[in-house]
Amino acid sequence: MTRNRAPVNFALIGCGRISRNHAAALADPAVGGRLVAVCDVVPERAKELAAQTGAEAYTDYARMLARDDVAAVSVCTPSGLHPEHGILAAEAGKHVVCEKPIAIDLESCDRLISVCRSRKRRLFVVLQNRLNATMRLLKGAIDRGRFGRIYGVHAQVLWQRPQGYYDQAPWRGTRALDGGALLNQASHYVDSLVWLGGAVAEVTAFTGRLARNIECEDSGAVVVRFRSGAIGSINASMLVYPRNFEGSVTVLGEHGTVKLGGIAINRFEKWEFESYDDDDKLVVESNYEPPNVYGFGHTAYYRGVVEALSNGGEPDTDGMEGRRSLELILAAYKSAAEGRKVMLPL
Ligand SMILES: NC(=O)c1ccc[n+]([C@@H]2O[C@H](COP(=O)([O-])OP(=O)(O)OC[C@H]3O[C@@H](n4cnc5c(N)ncnc54)[C@H](O)[C@@H]3O)[C@@H](O)[C@H]2O)c1
Repeated sequence: MTRNRAPVNFALIGCGRISRNHAAALADPAVGGRLVAVCDVVPERAKELAAQTGAEAYTDYARMLARDDVAAVSVCTPSGLHPEHGILAAEAGKHVVCEKPIAIDLESCDRLISVCRSRKRRLFVVLQNRLNATMRLLKGAIDRGRFGRIYGVHAQVLWQRPQGYYDQAPWRGTRALDGGALLNQASHYVDSLVWLGGAVAEVTAFTGRLARNIECEDSGAVVVRFRSGAIGSINASMLVYPRNFEGSVTVLGEHGTVKLGGIAINRFEKWEFESYDDDDKLVVESNYEPPNVYGFGHTAYYRGVVEALSNGGEPDTDGMEGRRSLELILAAYKSAAEGRKVMLPL
């Protein structure tokens, strides 16, 4: 039992919006972790999170990494900095919990994976949506073959991100540190596509910056052919009037149709199969109201992290799992930029 063990000590870099979810997860006694150090280049941010959590505040990452009581570092900095911060942590002997997306290019992603491997440090990529009760039911139905042959997997991310959201931090929407709707906001949905539909063979995409004053896209449409022959799509828009409208994944199969929707895959809108299964009774009770589009998943995710670190287990979503959606998104960007279909692997 996690609760009877000494807690696993974590440090965190990047004390912005998502750091709160990490801190809340580590404050939950059932998780078995403890946040002991936090770092940000903006001293006030580090101090504020430190004051809320009882951790020690740092502005110098190297000094924080020199602490020998830290087992793992949670990387919550802008996406383009994840590999650099993860690599420094692994080189200092720490395990790495990396926010999504793992990176914004494959070269630095592969460097991070390879340094963690060579240093024998575990690399966890926070893909917490896979742990939602709704998502687990859907994945279970696929794994047990209830759909028969899968014909299609389709994701919609129809949200609203006003200009003020992008203006909150200079890295948002930039090519160097973020990417656009597909790489940032829709990345969990792209992950669902590859997790549920399997490997992708080819991709065609359009992206556009239709309304926001940012470098990358605020809208994108992607069509994929899976290696299985199934056809899939991702539709992402950050321009939905007047607020977040839909975050959904639909699976079309020979013997079943499921749409997992709501604003952030929190509610089954359709669950219909040819044959009965006891899971059918769980569908209504697995629906939930999320506090925001990030859901509750960080706490469940950290439970798995602490479990793996304490028992020598492997991450559920490691660097290679994080790489799958990144590769698909980069293929979509390439297709949109070059006006042609792109084959995977890149
Ligand atoms: N898993 C999820 O559902 C989820 C949700 C939101 C964000 N995220 C990811 O989390 C990451 C952070 O997003 P956010 O919304 O919290 O951003 P944010 O801008 O609110 O926070 C980033 C923080 O990093 C700090 N920082 C920047 N450079 C640094 C450096 N070199 N050293 C130390 N600190 C530095 C900034 O000062 C800022 O406080 C992004 O990669 C994003 O994609 C994941």
